[in-house]
Amino acid sequence: MDLVTVILAAGKGTRMKSDLPKVLHKVCGKPMLEHVISAAKGVGSTRELVVIGSGAELVQQSIADVEFVMQEEQLGTGHAVLCTRDALKNADGSVLILCGDTPLLTSDLLSRFVDEHNKAEVKATVLTAMMPNADGYGRIIRADDGTVEKIVEHKDADDEQKKIREVNTGIYCFDVKILFDALEKVTNDNAQGEYYLTDVLEIIKNGGGKINAVIADDFTETLGINSRQQLAVAEKILRRRKNDQLMSDGVTLMDPSSTFIDADVEIDRDTVIYPFTWIEGATKIGRDCVIGPNSRLQNITIGDRVTAQFVYGHDCEVGNGVTIGPYVHLRPGTKIADKVKIGNFVEIKNSNIGAGSKLPHLQYLGDCDMGSNVNVGCGTVTCNYDGKKKYRTTIGDNVFVGCNTNLVAPVEVEDGAYIGAGSTITKRVPKENLAIARARQVNYADWADKRK
Ligand code: UD1
Ligand code: CA
Repeated sequence: MDLVTVILAAGKGTRMKSDLPKVLHKVCGKPMLEHVISAAKGVGSTRELVVIGSGAELVQQSIADVEFVMQEEQLGTGHAVLCTRDALKNADGSVLILCGDTPLLTSDLLSRFVDEHNKAEVKATVLTAMMPNADGYGRIIRADDGTVEKIVEHKDADDEQKKIREVNTGIYCFDVKILFDALEKVTNDNAQGEYYLTDVLEIIKNGGGKINAVIADDFTETLGINSRQQLAVAEKILRRRKNDQLMSDGVTLMDPSSTFIDADVEIDRDTVIYPFTWIEGATKIGRDCVIGPNSRLQNITIGDRVTAQFVYGHDCEVGNGVTIGPYVHLRPGTKIADKVKIGNFVEIKNSNIGAGSKLPHLQYLGDCDMGSNVNVGCGTVTCNYDGKKKYRTTIGDNVFVGCNTNLVAPVEVEDGAYIGAGSTITKRVPKENLAIARARQVNYADWADKRK
């Protein structure tokens, strides 16, 4: 049977006290809404409709591969679902309803939930959870025979109802037709003056329908994030989950609690991560690497057998067998080939460094194309900027650059050339030449004596 998913993400997120729409707040390096969408896609739904309103433009810019439905005024979760009626007019079968603020959801949990809904042959199923602290959640009211009667929102609940620990997770499966018929009948006669989606359960039940409830095994998977405090709780849980997964896959994390790895990062087996390391965004790291301590790697691709300690690297590529650090900054557009050695105290920007080249101490290379097996002396600098424009420096293979050389771009040093230490190179150095560009030394005899 066809399954479509509706994700509610139009709310203001008042309790976040933020200019950013709540569902765009990041957990484990990506927006909460994206976590929910991935979980939904993993269940095999054929369409994902995201209801947006507050900050709609920002949400549309940040999220791809879904259909957006506008909710102009945020009149409540029931009203939000009603906004999808046109988009779903030809749908039949089931609709899975999720909230954009539950980033801890897994496809496993949703699959089990949808299976239970289909097996029970009912028109409505709600996913519930036993929360240690149920504050803020809608409470599940069950009849004496255990069947679900209705959901009462925290703000509408009396003292007895507030003691109930079984809560509405905000996740439901409905027969599409029955859902929209029931939504027509929802009113906003409640403490918040909103059209509550939760009210459809009682309406369906009063119309003779049976409501099924599935209790989640692990309440943490269904936590809804309404405040910064809850955001921090979710962050901790998702990071631990990611670290556990990596360790199960054969990655050593010396101290998981001080290692911060984003949800989409990939790391191959037998790589060891030292503490105080952040690995973020679309980063991929190969096998047998030693990463950290104290490194921050963002959107970087790293090959096998790479060592990187005290490194900040972002939006760049590193080959196999490379040694980086300590104290290295690799900036965007940098491509490091195999077996290169970089560091201590080196900055490289928008440059290509050929295989086997050595940049061992205190260099700045910007906009530089370097061949293989180049030896760059300590303190070498590319002068790539004249105050208006940037220029490139080209260095061939097997070049020897003496210490403290300035390479004033645009300039080319051809294969096999040598540059004397302390040179300021402003002209092409032809193949296999020695270039020396510095003032000659003059010694004044007895100068110290005469000065006295
Ligand atoms: C809701 C449920 C509550 C449940 C809890 C689970 C209702 C009335 N209450 O409460 O029973 O325990 O989720 O986390 O449904 N939204 C819209 N448009 C609106 C209002 C909200 O799209 O007009 C979206 C929000 O962006 C959010 C989701 O719906 O993603 C839930 O809204 P929220 O205000 O967080 O509801 P809760 O008070 O948490
Ligand atoms: Ca919520």
